[in-house]
This record gives sequence, structure tokens and C-alpha cells, in this order.
Amino acid sequence: MTVSTPAAPAVVRATSLASIEVEPLTCAIGAELRDVDLGVASRDAGLVAEIRALLLKHRVLFFRDQDITRAEHVAFARHFGELEDHPVAGSDPEHPGLVRIYKSPETPNDRYENAWHTDATWREKPPFGCVLRCVECPPVGGDTMWVNMVLAYEKLPEHVKTQIAGLRARHSIEASFGAAMPIEKRLALKAQFPDAEHPVVRTHPETGEKVLFVNAFTTHFTNFHTAANVRVGQDANPGAALLLNYLISQAYIPEHQVRWRLRRNTVAIWDNRCTQHYAVQDFWPAARNLERAGIIGDRPC
Ligand code: SIN
Repeated sequence: MTVSTPAAPAVVRATSLASIEVEPLTCAIGAELRDVDLGVASRDAGLVAEIRALLLKHRVLFFRDQDITRAEHVAFARHFGELEDHPVAGSDPEHPGLVRIYKSPETPNDRYENAWHTDATWREKPPFGCVLRCVECPPVGGDTMWVNMVLAYEKLPEHVKTQIAGLRARHSIEASFGAAMPIEKRLALKAQFPDAEHPVVRTHPETGEKVLFVNAFTTHFTNFHTAANVRVGQDANPGAALLLNYLISQAYIPEHQVRWRLRRNTVAIWDNRCTQHYAVQDFWPAARNLERAGIIGDRPC
């Protein structure tokens, strides 16, 4: 298979198992794949292997016009690993693991997806990635954006890289999904999903790349209190909070991002280990119904 580098967007063709047209969408992240039927791929491990290689390279892949069944959606995602439900968003009753992200004028405007986030870092093992299909989309608006957190790390000033090496941070469902709940419900959610702790810089388990791994679920550093960082107690709070906010803000840099316009039967697959995403909530009162298969990942290290 030959693909161009992200720095030189071009249309190229794969030549092995299948003829896949690959068009990188930005210099940082994302490619559209054409001439691929994910229904066929759901039954073809060789084709999935090609797609997986492209996923490692481009971090998020897009496919148009995928008129696949829910069973094919789940079967395709299952090639990458076991699926998991989401404790707040419900799943399709006949297809466990196929999470419904349904928004319409009748549903509350809960504002969960319009924050830059890596899915479910409040889990000890956040997802490997997700396969998302648009079932119904607004006539305009409701785009989703992704950002390359390997690039975000690479572009940090060297002194910041030095300062954050070895730092760890807490990730919380209580401070995000729980924050809009009545107190008893929030505490029950937290009891079920205690806060997780992850390295601020994780290593991608397949590519070996360093990834800046803080996002909207991250609440605080857990080991900031060193002699170098803290002369007196009052250094800790502003110092740590400012540094954490600065690191989280690296996802907001347009040069690291791609923005994708959803259509009915658009599918996006992302590598959750090295990206964040943001669903733009500009479409109300139109409906926007997506179904997402989240694939269980590993413990970040
Ligand atoms: C998500 O996984 O955050 C949802 C993505 C989207 O709504 O586009």
C-alpha cells in the first residue's frame, strides 16, 4: 500500500487487497477513504487490516455513503476489539455496544460533546477508538472536529516537555457527565466509575509516539508537588492549574485539527489513544442522530 504523507495532501491508490482511494484532508490529521464498503469490510479481516494501518497513519478516517446495517456496524468495529456501553448515553437495545448519540428538539441540550475530549479517559482503560455512523444529520451544522495530540505534544516548547515528563493527572466522570446530575445520582455514578489516573504524556502502544493526554475530563495533576514546582504551598494551585489549562488548550490549535461535515451514512473511525474530538453544537433545533461503537482500549502508560 502506498499513501502520501500528511504533509503533502494528494489522492493515491492502495494496491494490495483492495483498491482504496486515500485523500489526506489536512497536513495534521484525517483522511477520507473511497471505494470501501464497510459492510464488506465487516466480513473481511484483510480489508480491516488495511484500514487499521491507515488509521495509525491518519488517526481519523472518513467514509461517505455507508448504507450498512447496525449488525454490520457492530461486526466491523468488533474486528478492532470488544465493545462497551456508555453509562450515561444509552445503547441500541438489540446491539449492545452501539451507543446512541441522538439529539433533537425533544431531547435536553446537555452540551456534553462540545468540549475537546478523548472519549472516556475517566476509565482505567479508555477506549482504543470508535466507529461512528451518522443516521440523521442537520441540513447544515453539526460538524465534528478532531485534533492530533501527537502533534500537540511534538510542538510543545522543550522546557514544557521537560516539566511535564513524569507528571500524572486525574480524570473524572463526576466532574463532567456527573456535574449536571442531582447529587445522589452523581455520587452513585462516581462510585461506579471512580476517577482514573493517567500519565500526562502517554506512549501510543502501537506506534511508540508520545501523546499529550489531558482533556476536558482532566481535573488536576496528582504528583505536581515537587521541590522544583512548589517552593511554598501557594505555588501549587495556580501553578498546577495554569499549566494544566495551558496543556488542555493545545487541542484548540487549528493547525492540529480537521473539521468534517457529516452526511447521512457518513462513518468516522478514530484512534482515541492519540486524538481528541469536538462536536459542534450549532444545529439546534434540527435533529442529529449518531450511533457510535466504542472499542475497549488498554491502560495508558
Ligand atoms: C462523541 O463521541 O463525542 C460524539 C461525536 C459527535 O457527536 O460527533
